[in-house]
Amino acid sequence: MDIVTVQHLYKTFGKGESAVHALNGIDLAIEKGKFTAVIGASGSGKTTLLNMIGGLDTPDKGEVIVDGIRLSGLKEKELAVFRRSKVGFVYQSFNLVPTLTVRENILFPLSLAGSSPEPDFYSEMIELLHLKDRQNAYPQELSGGGQQRVAIARALIAKPALLLADEPTGNLDSKNGQNVLGLLKLSVETWHQTLVMNTHNLEIAQMADRIIRIEDGRIYEQEDGPCWQITT
Ligand SMILES: Nc1ncnc2c1ncn2[C@@H]1O[C@H](COP(=O)(O)OP(=O)(O)OP(=O)(O)O)[C@@H](O)[C@H]1O
Ligand SMILES: [Mg+2]
Repeated sequence: MDIVTVQHLYKTFGKGESAVHALNGIDLAIEKGKFTAVIGASGSGKTTLLNMIGGLDTPDKGEVIVDGIRLSGLKEKELAVFRRSKVGFVYQSFNLVPTLTVRENILFPLSLAGSSPEPDFYSEMIELLHLKDRQNAYPQELSGGGQQRVAIARALIAKPALLLADEPTGNLDSKNGQNVLGLLKLSVETWHQTLVMNTHNLEIAQMADRIIRIEDGRIYEQEDGPCWQITT
């Protein structure tokens, strides 16, 4: 079953001579419960595509359907509800609240929505993400990898239909990066989480079930292993 369908998606930034065609007619279907990596050179359109799928930006033309919801039909308020209930976001910068503990950071999206986590799921999550002993620590007391694990837990706590990660290992050294990736992959395997991840790192992309390459706002499927170099 496809959880994301993208049809004929176009997005241009700017006008006239300075116009940048960030997305140039993207068609894509993403299967539920799979880990898809999106690779491509800097400026190829990876973040723009992820932002469209997550309802953070709107296309000029085309459709995005996530978990049966056609985003073009939503008003701004409904889009906010869509993002909160359906999508978890993980970024290169961890964006944790420094004055909240690890536990409070993880529960922050739920507390905003006025709900609390399923206790078993919270416990399972902090166990899986190796945060059990750090629940009362503050973000700055954790390593970069630890902080990113908190950001992942925060993104997953509401059980989103879709986890979108934009260069989640971009600020980590290779050991922490591999560790965070391993845990993201484990969330796909353990909870059948659907994950779409942008990355420059081919080694990391190869941990995915499927690799998609974007070039100049167009999609190329990568089926036969890498036969090209990524330049950034
Ligand atoms: N808000 C914006 N205003 C103007 N141009 C933009 C905007 N967002 C993206 N662009 C342009 O659209 C193109 C695609 O950008 P995008 O950020 O999607 O690329 P990317 O593949 O994520 O790159 P990177 O690997 O560096 O993160 C680039 O040329 C970029 O400069
Ligand atoms: Mg980007």
